[in-house]
Amino acid sequence: MTTQHTRTLDRQIGLGLLVLLFLVSACGKTDPPIEKGVDLSAFPYQPKAFDLVVPDHFSQMPIPSDNPLTVDGVALGRYLFYDPILSLDSTISCASCHLPAAAFADTVALSKGVGGTLGVRNAMSLANVGYYQNGLFWDGRVATLEEQSLHPVQDPLEMREDWNKVEEKLQQHPEYQKRFRAAFGIENSLDIDRYLAAKALAQFERTLISGTSKYDFANFDWGTQQQFFTSSELRGRNFFFSEPDDPNDPHPGCTHCHTSLLLTTNEYLNNGLDEAPELTGFSDLGRGGVTLSVFDNGRFRVPTLRNITRTAPYMHDGRFESLEDVLDHYSSGGHYAPNVDANIQAFVLTEEQKTDLLAFLQTLTDQSFIENPAFLNPF
Ligand code: HEC
Ligand code: HEC
Repeated sequence: MTTQHTRTLDRQIGLGLLVLLFLVSACGKTDPPIEKGVDLSAFPYQPKAFDLVVPDHFSQMPIPSDNPLTVDGVALGRYLFYDPILSLDSTISCASCHLPAAAFADTVALSKGVGGTLGVRNAMSLANVGYYQNGLFWDGRVATLEEQSLHPVQDPLEMREDWNKVEEKLQQHPEYQKRFRAAFGIENSLDIDRYLAAKALAQFERTLISGTSKYDFANFDWGTQQQFFTSSELRGRNFFFSEPDDPNDPHPGCTHCHTSLLLTTNEYLNNGLDEAPELTGFSDLGRGGVTLSVFDNGRFRVPTLRNITRTAPYMHDGRFESLEDVLDHYSSGGHYAPNVDANIQAFVLTEEQKTDLLAFLQTLTDQSFIENPAFLNPF
């Protein structure tokens, strides 16, 4: 009896131990400690519309209805823009490649990402980027700033980080907890995600408006032109915009593509940079890589010429060091490819005309944009 009882007891203890073991191991596998995040509802959320000041001669900037600019949203975007926390090893921020002093472009042909990896295209200026409605990047592969902002973090040639990790870093950061709360009214730190970060970055980028260069003061009121421009700048301006009665008369034709307020039509064109007897012969397909139409191969988005003296080197691959090189390219008529734009035609460029064109291009520099304290590093 006793032995039997003991055996039963033994068996029960053994079973109990097994169940316990099972429970413990099951616990370890399927029940991680519940992550509750931090309750943020006590922190202030008083959204105030951001007063986007647009120069009188600019149109209103189109703003998506699901991402209105607020004071705290723009401020958050500015922090994120300058914060290397978005990169794998905390070495690279957006501003590493989009430098304020270079009108938010880079000063090298190809930018370095995490670990010094070289990119494949030249970093573009972000001046007036909120106005571009015909696609972003040189090839227009994304439509909106919100969408664009998601790209650099995971790009192996840029910030090489995983958005899941960035979300965690931001969620655990007391300062960002408060800033995301203030910008978007979230209740819990776990609500911080990549889409809100992208919205904030887009809000900040929309404030990067450049419209107070000498060109702006002079160009929109013919009566005041002589007063603002030197005679060389004025000659350069007239040459840039010249449209002879006979379009076959050689002329620079810049204004066919670089025109109006933003000095770009924002179309995708081939300006004759590369010799390509066949449309399949381009090393960088540009727009064609997006539309998959061979006629778009070698076409790139016409960039703005605003602040052009600050954004060297030039073109999608930064191949030209100086504006003199750019002018030599255009006056030569460029290289043959079946889809070179008809407005790329050789023209005579005397030394004086070159000096004048360069003088005009200098008037597009907007010093108050470049030095605007609201755009600089907030840290
Ligand atoms: C390592 C360098 C690098 C970093 C870091 C970087 N960019 Fe860029 N950026 C580029 C390059 C290069 C391009 C052009 C790429 C292309 O066209 O394929 C570009 C293009 C853009 C454009 C498109 C502009 C236009 O007119 O189409 C925007 C907007 C932009 N970047 C914003 C950002 C933001 C926001 C961040 C940070 C989250 C960032 N970039 C980080 C190099 C960088
Ligand atoms: C047929 C349209 C067209 C004409 C005409 C034209 N451009 Fe361009 N321009 C472009 C395109 C497209 C690019 C970008 C090409 C690329 O990088 O592949 C560009 C790029 C540039 C750049 C480099 C900008 C940067 O940020 O890297 C400068 C500077 C420039 N053009 C100045 C001029 C001047 C000055 C003239 C007149 C002499 C002119 N362009 C005529 C289409 C044109």
